[in-house]
Amino acid sequence: MTPIRPDGHGSMEARVRIERLSEHPQLVEVVGRWHWDEWGHEDPDGSLAEWTSRLREHAPDAAIPLTLVALSSNGTPLGSVSIVDQDMPERPESRALGPWVGGTYVVPEARNRGVGVALMRAVERTAAALRVDRLYLHTSTAKVFYERLGWEVLMEDFYRGERVTIMVREIPLSVSSWRVGVRIWYHQSSLPNRPVLPLPRGVAKASEPRSLS
Ligand SMILES: CC(C)(COP(=O)(O)OP(=O)(O)OC[C@H]1O[C@@H](n2cnc3c(N)ncnc32)[C@H](O)[C@@H]1OP(=O)(O)O)[C@@H](O)C(=O)NCCC(=O)NCCS
Repeated sequence: MTPIRPDGHGSMEARVRIERLSEHPQLVEVVGRWHWDEWGHEDPDGSLAEWTSRLREHAPDAAIPLTLVALSSNGTPLGSVSIVDQDMPERPESRALGPWVGGTYVVPEARNRGVGVALMRAVERTAAALRVDRLYLHTSTAKVFYERLGWEVLMEDFYRGERVTIMVREIPLSVSSWRVGVRIWYHQSSLPNRPVLPLPRGVAKASEPRSLS
């Protein structure tokens, strides 16, 4: 694949179409395979079939959980990102947080061309359209990537045997318009009025990392 970096991220965002995975059911297995190959080792009791079937259930309407897929101009799938209610099921404390961004993934041959940034911007717009004003994620590999996109470190933790950083992103609810080339896939009338949970007591929006335990 030819690199398109000289144009910068903004134009990449315009070249990549980002759409609901539920509009492309033929891609569910492709995305399921990406996720399983990248993170399946973290879920020893899980299976590719189970992960794929969970993705298939992602809301066909505008509700969470949902998955977005990045497509090249000729329809080749390049990456994905999801919004889910819970992404740290083995940590009861994390249930007070959410929703979560997970499954941020770009195929190796399309990396460093702005696709990841385009997906993250799309996820913010989607959250804003759903009236979600705060998103969370945990990462062991891409803290700096998210920091550069405005995410803040909430705390450091250990999860499934790895050191992870839990991050939060405030979403301005005015962010709802789309740049050229990115389709609107939701219907205002069907958007749920989701309550947004405050930070749990004692969890400061810290610039200094702290541990849950
Ligand atoms: C992380 C990931 C989604 C980034 O996607 P991408 O399309 O390569 O990202 P972009 O091209 O939009 O990158 C924008 C910038 O972030 C940087 N970046 C990319 N991945 C990074 C990482 N893991 N950590 C820090 N910076 C990163 C790029 O170098 C680029 O910097 P530059 O503008 O100075 O050149 C992709 O590398 C990936 O799928 N990795 C494997 C899965 C993964 O780790 N996902 C995150 C799990 S929380």
